[in-house]
Amino acid sequence: MARPIIIDCDPGVDDAIALFLALAHPTELNILGITTVAGNVPLHYTSQNALKICALANRADIPVYAGCPRPLIRPLSTATDIHGATGLQGTELPEPIQPLRVQHAVAFLIETLQQAPEPVTLATLGPFTNLAVALIQAPQIADKIDTIIAMGGAITHGNITPAAEFNIYVDPHAAQVVFESGIPIKLITLDTTHQVLTTPKQLAAFRQLNTAIGHAAADLLAHYGTPEIERYGMQGAPLHDPCVIAYLLQPELFTFKDTYTTIDTISPENLGRTVIDWWGRTEQPPNAQVAASVDAAGIYKLLMESF
Ligand code: RIB
Ligand code: CA
Repeated sequence: MARPIIIDCDPGVDDAIALFLALAHPTELNILGITTVAGNVPLHYTSQNALKICALANRADIPVYAGCPRPLIRPLSTATDIHGATGLQGTELPEPIQPLRVQHAVAFLIETLQQAPEPVTLATLGPFTNLAVALIQAPQIADKIDTIIAMGGAITHGNITPAAEFNIYVDPHAAQVVFESGIPIKLITLDTTHQVLTTPKQLAAFRQLNTAIGHAAADLLAHYGTPEIERYGMQGAPLHDPCVIAYLLQPELFTFKDTYTTIDTISPENLGRTVIDWWGRTEQPPNAQVAASVDAAGIYKLLMESF
């Protein structure tokens, strides 16, 4: 039976690669809906980009719901330097085939989870704003979420500040709501995603597939990586969000460690930091499993098979 999931995202180039991967596996993943949030770029663009990604993947059967246009408390911070002004620089995806659904993403999350015959997995690829608002409005939905698989946070260094990773930094208060919810969380941090780098050889391999998705992925990743490659001296662009979907399809590609994780919502210098108690110093019960290792080659093999 296909696993029922909802993907919350802020496409964004790596979100696009993650969505292409998920949309290519209808027998394993029953995508109940895609919800969009402001993050990498403003909500209008993340929403239109999600529709365009579904169009290119011939999956206009998947409903897309626009969510929150800004974080709970903080003003919106975007990452247009990485993803371009519209969020998908590097290629022109086809125009949407379907319109955005009228229902707000938060209402969709609440209604779908309340009515779900079995618990649903949430795959979160952006700031947690939509999920946090849904949990505040209808706390009982926590019982209908079996796991949250999230890209976010960092054990060590941040990427948007020295301390914080972008998804958490954009909306640290929303992240705090989610990490205090008691819902099982698997967190894939920068420490893991920075091991999954798209080298020029891998870009060429995507192109040699000679498929629409392969070409789109190569075009998108060729541009997306430049700032991070220069900043970190990497061999290629880090594939953050595809790690979430790769876990859902092939969990054996990852190992995780039980941790007690909190979010710094106070300190100006550390705002949005995931304080991950890797060695159990707080003696608090674990509230999040954090990725400890990844088979990066296995992820690329999965992507090649999927595109
Ligand atoms: O820090 C990386 C994360 O922030 C990814 O999800 C990327 O798409 C941005 O949302
Ligand atoms: Ca993202």
